[in-house]
Amino acid sequence: MTFRTLDDLDLAGKRALVRVDFNVPMADGQVSDDTRLRAALPTVAKLRAAGARVILLAHFDRPKGRWVPEMSLAPVVPALSEVLGCPVAFARDCVGPDVAAAVAAMSSGDVLLLENVRFYPGEEANDPAFARALAENGDLYVNDAFSAAHRAHASTEGLAHLLPACAGEQMRLELTALDKALGRPERPVMGIVGGSKVSSKLDLLRNLVTKLDKLAIGGGMANTFLFAQGHDVGSSYCEKDMADTARDIIRLAGQNNCKLFLPLDIVVAEKMAPGAPARVRGLGSLDDDERILDAGPETVERLCRAMNNSKTLIWNGPLGVFEMPPFDKGTVAAARHAAELAKAGKLVAVAGGGDTVAALHHAGCAEDFTFVSTAGGAFLEWMEGKTLPGVAALTNQNRR
Ligand code: 3PG
Repeated sequence: MTFRTLDDLDLAGKRALVRVDFNVPMADGQVSDDTRLRAALPTVAKLRAAGARVILLAHFDRPKGRWVPEMSLAPVVPALSEVLGCPVAFARDCVGPDVAAAVAAMSSGDVLLLENVRFYPGEEANDPAFARALAENGDLYVNDAFSAAHRAHASTEGLAHLLPACAGEQMRLELTALDKALGRPERPVMGIVGGSKVSSKLDLLRNLVTKLDKLAIGGGMANTFLFAQGHDVGSSYCEKDMADTARDIIRLAGQNNCKLFLPLDIVVAEKMAPGAPARVRGLGSLDDDERILDAGPETVERLCRAMNNSKTLIWNGPLGVFEMPPFDKGTVAAARHAAELAKAGKLVAVAGGGDTVAALHHAGCAEDFTFVSTAGGAFLEWMEGKTLPGVAALTNQNRR
């Protein structure tokens, strides 16, 4: 995959329209996790150092083309200014004469954040007229929002056809890491997929069993696989109507020489509550009121051994209910093991998806992974083998 980067464009004095993803968690009107703000820093710093004027485009939440004051990007400004280490001006619109005036008043190195692009229906419709209105305020377009690249919207896709375009630093990092993990991985390559629903990760599982050498299935979705193999799952969360599908995936894995790792033992409890008394069980009969809430120690040990014999690991989804100790043990132990191997240079370990990243932070080992994606849905779609419109537009810049 080839795409232009900031190094390929003449930036001095230019108005750079930079699509970032500031769809950040907020609590009491303040940014509660600034990961995505920090992700924008390398691109903004590089543009400022080169003397560009930095105009940031972003969405927040899903206002569906209407002005929803609670979804304004204004509350992001103080945290952003702190992360970037410079003043950040804010425009109360993203197109039109007021924005044009604010941009005209900028000097080299200034940073201006525009209002939520999703306040206009033209954004999600990828309306060419709206994309042109956005383009009027820029000389070039930088897409640094990998986590929004699965959306074919005006600011994530349309703009790339209207202005000289390139990938920002975060976009470049994400694409390089994901290519290393799934595009052209060093083998053997192993995957861990967890989370509750087989039904929401079907495309993902089907794609991965054709690409990976090993795939471990954990979390609630492992219950569906165990049930499909005839094991008792007590009152565990289980999509019983997906049993045939699970058997199909097991068959597909066999046909593609992908070794599947399903739980060998499990942690069960009668209640899904923090601190609920937990028991380790082998596969077999469960009491009616018992539910599976984590992978057992033998399962985790086998996963760790499989990681030892792998060169690449791609991880999406926790192995258990990690938000509720003691049901975090399996996820924490496996995550720490992967992190140690990555830190020692023995494994390329890449992880992504909201829950996964939260689990790695909970385990205290996110920093030691080779790469942790800032993306949720986009990371999943990438793992599903889908083309991301925002990425495709950067690699194939046809002018409209
Ligand atoms: C995200 O938070 O994953 C991205 O910003 C995309 O948001 P969306 O799912 O509302 O398009």
